[in-house]
Amino acid sequence: MENNSRILEVTSLKKYFPVKKGFLKRTVGHVKAVDDIHFYINEGETLGLVGESGCGKTTLGRCILRAIEPSEGSALFKDRKGNHVELTGLDPKQLRAIRRDMQLIFQDPYSSLNPRMTVLNIIGEPLLCNGIAKGDELRERVKRLMELVGLNSRHLERYPHAFSGGQRQRIGIARALATNPRFIVCDEAVSALDVSVQAQILNLLQDLQEQLNLSYLFISHDLGVIQHISDRVGVMYVGKMVEMAETEALFNTPKHPYTEALLSAKPLPDPRAKSKRIILEGEVANPANPPSGCYFHPRCKYAKDICKQKAPEWTEVGKDHYVACHLAGELELQGVHSQ
Ligand SMILES: Nc1ncnc2c1ncn2[C@@H]1O[C@H](COP(=O)(O)OP(=O)(O)OP(=O)(O)O)[C@@H](O)[C@H]1O
Ligand SMILES: [Mg+2]
Repeated sequence: MENNSRILEVTSLKKYFPVKKGFLKRTVGHVKAVDDIHFYINEGETLGLVGESGCGKTTLGRCILRAIEPSEGSALFKDRKGNHVELTGLDPKQLRAIRRDMQLIFQDPYSSLNPRMTVLNIIGEPLLCNGIAKGDELRERVKRLMELVGLNSRHLERYPHAFSGGQRQRIGIARALATNPRFIVCDEAVSALDVSVQAQILNLLQDLQEQLNLSYLFISHDLGVIQHISDRVGVMYVGKMVEMAETEALFNTPKHPYTEALLSAKPLPDPRAKSKRIILEGEVANPANPPSGCYFHPRCKYAKDICKQKAPEWTEVGKDHYVACHLAGELELQGVHSQ
């Protein structure tokens, strides 16, 4: 089904990494990092993506951007002419053309910027590589991009080390915006920043979204950040999407026991990442050897026999509210406002 307000429609997307063993490197199994996922993103919308470490958030984002090849499935992207393009079937030339429309902002502004390049070259590189601008025009465009993200455009000959963490993340954002994209995957884009700087960058991303009609897939461990920035939220567990809903519905009336557990967990500050890590009881299932039935059943306090036997289907249980749980119809789960 084609829907005109959707910039991205993902169906049955899978990414299986082979697990190789022994001298002959034989494939002995697969890590199901992204396992049969369905969702869509509307134009101008932010879809938040949350879940414990290793559940497949980054892999999902990279599959959509075709930074890695998905194993199976479909991702339909609406390009700037309004055509629906099947991302999984593009050859390298078509891919280069569509990459202008889709960009990535990632976590670590310290390691992602080349320390030997000036800001002019860092932000200007995508313009030069895509043949969009060079020389004086490139310089002018870089200045405008710097101003757009709140940087002083007189600093364009400086190197990354001369900037603070928040400013470096602004450089990363300006670089991502250089090709005038319409869809951006933000992968832990604010997780390495101090809380006050985090808020400034989140506000910047929201302002830019409004000005430029950007659509975001916003990946984060931090439920507070996700709640603040997202229109809708998806919750992943061991390669599967287990619940997706409008932000308020997800936080107030969760339908999946895993979502309830995430919302009730006390986030512990992680001194290394300065972000809050989600710590739940029990062990996360191994994506190379997941349990039978519903992958969450060994940790689920509501699990019944059917949960051990059968994988739950992805079902719409309310308007734009999807969940994969056998018991979704009968459980009364606690949201953040009902505690
Ligand atoms: N190139 C790879 N080869 C094999 N396994 C991989 C590869 N990349 C990721 N994985 C595995 O896929 C699973 C999902 O990883 P991914 O990085 O997508 O998780 P994540 O949700 O982004 O985690 P985090 O919150 O820590 O960033 C993990 O089990 C990981 O070990
Ligand atoms: Mg990740």
